[in-house]
Amino acid sequence: MDFSEKDSVDAVLASFADTPDPRLHEVIEGLVRHLHGFLRDVRPSLAEWEQGIEFLTAIGQKCDEHRQEFILFSDVMGASMLVETMEAERQAQDATASTVLGPFHVVTSPERALGDSVDSLGTGEPCLIEGSVAAPDGTRIPGARIDVWQADEQGSYDVESGGRQPLGNGRGLFTADDEGRFWFRSIVPAHYPIPTDGPVGALLRATRRHPYRPAHVHFIVEAPGYVPVTTHVFVEGSEYLDSDAVFAVKQSLVRDFATVDDAEAAARHGLPNPFRRAQFDVVLQPAGS
Ligand code: BEZ
Ligand code: FE
Repeated sequence: MDFSEKDSVDAVLASFADTPDPRLHEVIEGLVRHLHGFLRDVRPSLAEWEQGIEFLTAIGQKCDEHRQEFILFSDVMGASMLVETMEAERQAQDATASTVLGPFHVVTSPERALGDSVDSLGTGEPCLIEGSVAAPDGTRIPGARIDVWQADEQGSYDVESGGRQPLGNGRGLFTADDEGRFWFRSIVPAHYPIPTDGPVGALLRATRRHPYRPAHVHFIVEAPGYVPVTTHVFVEGSEYLDSDAVFAVKQSLVRDFATVDDAEAAARHGLPNPFRRAQFDVVLQPAGS
């Protein structure tokens, strides 16, 4: 029988009928049904379909060790946040809200001692970020690992700064103390545009979308026996909190980076007085609960 628009889904699904892994079979079936449905809705010309393939090819070609254009595509389409949101519903109702990983977790964060600074340039506004890691019942989690990465006051990450920042700047891997507490010095990050020099940037321009993300610090917090959380702390008052290019803002993650005038605390932390300070207490869900 000839391939037809009416029977296209059945013909392709039949070719996958012997897929042994049931989950893979389910995923492929959904993909075929939705892809064919999309094509029947949109009815692209052959030239438009080739353009689409070229776009995806360009996304792949833009990827390298430090550039993750596919993650960026998933992010601007809201797909990353939809998957994040569904995962959180499955796993961790009582835990700190999760949000997108983003494409910049591409350098291993240097191990740092509590109280160290993740910033080696000293050009931004100094701040202290401190908090605790605990289970939903309040039990502290000593030794939890806290991986952080952030843009600088100009809104760029080390890997995209063209050498202005050394690799590892703005990043740190900390271990919570015996009471599950952590603290480190940094600078207040700025809002920034996601990378726009690739096909995803071309898509944003063609659709008149802005590329900005509100100011934030990324966190991955993990501990044995708990579900890890990938999240951000957003800087209260930052531009773009209401229109994040990747839809990743959750109100429960917005924190006041308040100005603190306390000479004793500043001296204790090796900060100038006054300084900015944010508190971020993290709750992890026990695994399997
Ligand atoms: C980020 O926050 O690093 C990020 C997230 C999504 C897309 C681009 C950047
Ligand atoms: Fe970021």
